[in-house]
Amino acid sequence: DKGGWSSFMAKEISEEPEALEATLLGRVHDGLVVLDEIEGGFPDDVLRGVDRIVLLGAGTAAYSGLLGKYAIEKWAGVPVEVELAHEFRYRDPVLSEHTLVASISQSGETMDTLMAVKYARERGARTLSICNTQGATIARESDAVLYTRAGPEVAVASTKAFTAQVVALYLFGLHLGRVRGALSDADSRGLVAELQALPAKLQEVLAQGGEVREMARQMSDTRSVLFLGRHVGYPVALEGALKLKELAYIHAEGFAAGELKHGPIALIEPGQRVFVVVPSPRDSNSLHPKVVSNIQEIRARGAYVLAVAEAGDVAVLPFADEVLRIPLAGPMFEPLLAVAPLQQFAMELAAAKGLDVDQPRNLAKSVTVE
Ligand code: F6R
Repeated sequence: DKGGWSSFMAKEISEEPEALEATLLGRVHDGLVVLDEIEGGFPDDVLRGVDRIVLLGAGTAAYSGLLGKYAIEKWAGVPVEVELAHEFRYRDPVLSEHTLVASISQSGETMDTLMAVKYARERGARTLSICNTQGATIARESDAVLYTRAGPEVAVASTKAFTAQVVALYLFGLHLGRVRGALSDADSRGLVAELQALPAKLQEVLAQGGEVREMARQMSDTRSVLFLGRHVGYPVALEGALKLKELAYIHAEGFAAGELKHGPIALIEPGQRVFVVVPSPRDSNSLHPKVVSNIQEIRARGAYVLAVAEAGDVAVLPFADEVLRIPLAGPMFEPLLAVAPLQQFAMELAAAKGLDVDQPRNLAKSVTVE
């Protein structure tokens, strides 16, 4: 039941704040993350002995993994690799009992991911499943499960499940950081509060859906769109591009903004549409001026720039053709706000082209074959 929405995808995007809230529910006590449910497979002493984490997934799930990498390395100080599940088991990954392999899957039935989990297990790694479907095969094949609680996702393109995966990975990172003594309680509490503030902020972002629709309608004959982002904006760029490919059948690529001058800038010609996910000007890494200068570089070559930028960021105004705003959030949390307009954009562009938003051609919701 679409509940009055034009598509399941529209409904599921609207449910993102709830998905986020549900994934946090019962996992925060006294302002700190408590993950009792993974203790069976990952008691604290095991977590303290982990020397490496491998995150596995496919498509959108792998992009949520990229965000997990930034967060887990920052908060827990453990090296994290993200790998496409279908690549992982066809090389000779180095694994040991100190390797934590966490798979990420909405359906919990993706064959590529399932086979990678089994492979990791056979080679002695411990496995954690981040899964949206109660009792799914991957969950059953893992040492522990951390459920995302996005609720059923019907549209083929993943939206609320992605948001919930990122939250689950962040919860895991906060838990790990505290167990390992890498994060103080005070810092943890601050980060948890940021997480808890997200649903309301996301609601504000989603309220700009009308603007996004207008933008998409004006671009319905566009043949190619590029997406740029840096740091945690980079996985957002990849995800924005994937959504546009699968829904609107438009050639789209996501790049790390720092990579521009190493090749992709050659693609820029007059009229090229480019989405840029702009980091907060308050960010302490000072990536903001670098991304603004990337915008200037592509603008000088004729690009049509669509910026997703923090409310009050005036530095982008002279150079961006269109600006979508996101509320202020900590640097690690911006992607959870910035991805929504890109999801909406892909959906609206597909709708403007008269395409089936919920069931794009050639795709299945759950890929149970290799
Ligand atoms: C993209 C999309 C796919 C899935 C991928 C993994 O919108 O839906 O890329 O994310 O097939 O599926 P799960 O998460 O079920 O393993």
